[in-house]
Amino acid sequence: MEQPIGVFDSGVGGLTVLRELARVLPGEGFLYLGDTARVPYGTKSRETVTRYSIEVANHLITRHDIKMLVVACNTASSLALPALRKIYKIPVVGMVDPCVRRVASLAKKETIGVIGTAGTIRSGAYEQALRQAVPKARVTARACPLLVSLAEEGWAEKPVTRAVIAEYLSTFREAPPDALILGCTHYPVLKKPIAEFLGDRTVLIDSGEEAARVVDTLVSESGMKRGGCAPEIRFVVTDDPEHFARVGEMFFGRRMDSVERVTL
Ligand code: DGL
Repeated sequence: MEQPIGVFDSGVGGLTVLRELARVLPGEGFLYLGDTARVPYGTKSRETVTRYSIEVANHLITRHDIKMLVVACNTASSLALPALRKIYKIPVVGMVDPCVRRVASLAKKETIGVIGTAGTIRSGAYEQALRQAVPKARVTARACPLLVSLAEEGWAEKPVTRAVIAEYLSTFREAPPDALILGCTHYPVLKKPIAEFLGDRTVLIDSGEEAARVVDTLVSESGMKRGGCAPEIRFVVTDDPEHFARVGEMFFGRRMDSVERVTL
């Protein structure tokens, strides 16, 4: 199937997910949409995030004929996935199930931490999925909204970021969890200071890495693999393309040559 895989996020953060998808599936084409005109999603209600997500999905499906939708935004995955799956026939992959599946596969999984935006944590989506998959685990969830701005500033190595991480994760200071789900697109950029705070006994679960594994299996098993034509990665945004390309480079790990602006 020659059509691209659609990847959607509220802004630049989902590029951490796209980076993993492109690494694991180098033969596939991708169309990334960042809804930069309406970011952040993390502070908004379920109704608003669901409405935005449907508008974005409509655009990707009707105008770009994507074969699969990856909801890279953890907030949209937590709040809007059931609605998207009900409306569309193409496969819709979110971030919650792939992360929870990885936790379930760990040998040690008695205590699990989840961090994300206020919307993600308020939704309880991770806790609910963990309760089903790992019923014995003790789950501690914490919203860490300031980390999004710190990641976008490129301040992973600054003392202020370490201080904010120490404050948010203070519950884990004495007893680090067996695993911590990085339930937000931006947190992979802060993996180093988070790992340094928690120490080596905590496994950090990166939603992009886990989702890429799931998408890879789905593409192969459902006969959706791209044929011969050269893979292409395209970027569209709903606000200023230059700002997206500049900040996004840090999340994607390479330059984005052309970013187009679209109206949904
Ligand atoms: N992409 C969002 C997420 O992963 C973070 C940024 C936002 O709040 O929109 O939850």
